[in-house]
Amino acid sequence: MASKMIKTNNSKKEFSRAQKVLVGGVNSPVRAFKSVGGQALIIDRGLDSKFYDIDGNAYTDYCLSWGALILGHAHKEVMAAVNKTLKNGTSYGTTTKLEIDLAETITKHVPSIDLIRFVNSGTEAVMSAIRLARGFTNRNKVLKFDGCYHGHCDDLLTSAGSGVTFLASSSSKGVPPGHVQNTLSIPYNDIQELITAIDRHRKDLACVILEPVCGNMGVVLPKIEFLRTIRDLTRRYGIVLIFDEVMTGFRTNISCSQSDWGIQPDLTCLGKIIGGGFPIGAYGGRRDIMQCLAPLGDVYQAGTFAGNPVVMAAGLATLKNLNASVYKQINQVSAKFAQETNEYFKEYNIPAHLSTYKSMMSLRFRKEIVIDYSSAQVASSHEIYPKLFHHLLNNGIYWPPADLEAFFISSKHTQKDLNTLKDHIIGFFQSYKPNKK
Ligand SMILES: Cc1ncc(COP(=O)(O)O)c(C=O)c1O
Repeated sequence: MASKMIKTNNSKKEFSRAQKVLVGGVNSPVRAFKSVGGQALIIDRGLDSKFYDIDGNAYTDYCLSWGALILGHAHKEVMAAVNKTLKNGTSYGTTTKLEIDLAETITKHVPSIDLIRFVNSGTEAVMSAIRLARGFTNRNKVLKFDGCYHGHCDDLLTSAGSGVTFLASSSSKGVPPGHVQNTLSIPYNDIQELITAIDRHRKDLACVILEPVCGNMGVVLPKIEFLRTIRDLTRRYGIVLIFDEVMTGFRTNISCSQSDWGIQPDLTCLGKIIGGGFPIGAYGGRRDIMQCLAPLGDVYQAGTFAGNPVVMAAGLATLKNLNASVYKQINQVSAKFAQETNEYFKEYNIPAHLSTYKSMMSLRFRKEIVIDYSSAQVASSHEIYPKLFHHLLNNGIYWPPADLEAFFISSKHTQKDLNTLKDHIIGFFQSYKPNKK
């Protein structure tokens, strides 16, 4: 299928203005198209499964604000809730009914969460959950897994996935060695390494943190035995188990991915979907642990805008709309798309596959299943992904502008949208010619 060329004159003009005042023209590195080449688009508005740039091009959006917009852009009821709340003001710096409502909704649906605290981003949720785990256990060490990204807090910028994959060393510059000296990072899904690490450090480990399904090295499913071993060992040694569900929370069902695995963590970090497209993070879990937080306990954490009413209203309206039939529909269209695309790859012997966690997926440039960060890197392609990205973009499809990211499907994406995506992926592979060495 031939690509059209899109007009980008206005985006180009605005992006050069952006580069004069915003670092790299963006407010988050991966938006800058650095790993796919070309130049970032300037977006004007969104509706349902699409957004529109300032040159008037329409794109079916599979990035969806990095997974936040499960109901698509400008969902009617979310917008109505936001507008209604806005009429009364924007922020009061004190508790509102909306905060209580959202907290009740989340604790009702996620049984591992007795008490919750809202913050302003996923990074803040993780950073605070780790502080809480340290305060609760009086221990310092944190065990994480290579390729899991937990936001940009200093302690966890080691072997992170997502946008930092390409840094020369596995940590960011500007992080003093002291910040990572208590951080251990081992391969995801490696049960033997896990047993060894916990056995060696069990007296010093405050917490084990992981994405219960990885999205930040592309989609990687956990082995169930891996999760069970983590749960058993953390419980045995009094180590706090933190599930980072900032990306997976409320993505495939109303009780988060922990309910898929039948494993209850001690603390859960949330973000993205629960803010309905506004900045949010949250962490919650076992009552005895959460009660160590100020004002009840001695672990301090605070926030001027935490629990902002407009954000709460958007989150609440989003969760209210996520009923069983909405999940069924999103998961069904996603499954059909993934199955047919993967069948095509098999039939034509193309070394690629979609790794999927229902409506969260990524494309691997290899047949073999990805189980950890090193196999994710082997299955990534700095040559093919940028070409595929631009092929899709030129055909009105917006994918995340970096390999090793997940793409997402919303309730507004139709089977027709996904058939178009499949056809353009197939069209790309049919005409793809590798660079000559
Ligand atoms: C699993 C996970 N944790 C934490 C974060 C950080 O969230 P935020 O970007 O809201 O700070 C992200 C962001 O993508 C994430 O995917």
